[in-house]
Amino acid sequence: MELGQVVRRRKMVRTFQDRPIAPEVVERILESGRHAPSAGFSQGFAFLVLDGPQQAAGFWRTVSGDSGWPHEGLRRAPLIVVPLASKQAYLDRYAEPDKGWTDRAESRWPVPFWIVDAAFAAMLILLTAVDEGLGALFFGLDPPDPSALRLAYDVPREFEPIGAIAIGHPAPDPIVSSAQTRPRKPLDEVVHRGRW
Ligand SMILES: Cc1cc2nc3c(=O)[nH]c(=O)nc-3n(C[C@H](O)[C@H](O)[C@H](O)COP(=O)(O)O)c2cc1C
Repeated sequence: MELGQVVRRRKMVRTFQDRPIAPEVVERILESGRHAPSAGFSQGFAFLVLDGPQQAAGFWRTVSGDSGWPHEGLRRAPLIVVPLASKQAYLDRYAEPDKGWTDRAESRWPVPFWIVDAAFAAMLILLTAVDEGLGALFFGLDPPDPSALRLAYDVPREFEPIGAIAIGHPAPDPIVSSAQTRPRKPLDEVVHRGRW
């Protein structure tokens, strides 16, 4: 698919068919994520991958307990990718001689690049899913406390999940999303050419 087509077709999909994803497609999606840019090439992101209905069910048990969230259609997604960010990887990388921030002070960072980079990786995963004819939803983990996830999957303390991505074959979506109730801002409202 043309890149422009992928970008325009991408929208969050919240309901999936009960249908597996071919292993080579899963690999291509993850490989795309690995190619995300990262500050100082720190590569402080990682992906926790829960592949197949059994592992996906375990993920939902871990993050939602008995809350009833999410709905059945989202639980059918056969692939869950949790992008995680390591702040420590960036503090360590930028303390190396070519960067020289040996005090590892967080105040030096204009924005948390570890979150930026994990989000770039997440976007590549979303776009590659579309390119493969699939749908995906990036969603926030609620409650934000990642301790259950850490415990269930031995996630090292330095890695923070930035959310999660459910991926699968799209099914008709009964969920009314914000994108259907709010118009996309026109370009002139978003872009400030020359000056604001
Ligand atoms: C950081 C972030 C968090 C989001 N969290 C959720 C979520 O928890 N649940 C959900 O259904 N959609 C979530 N979304 C999807 C947005 O609602 C969606 O991207 C927005 O309405 C625009 O729609 P589109 O992506 O289909 O164009 C999230 C998106 C982003 C970027």
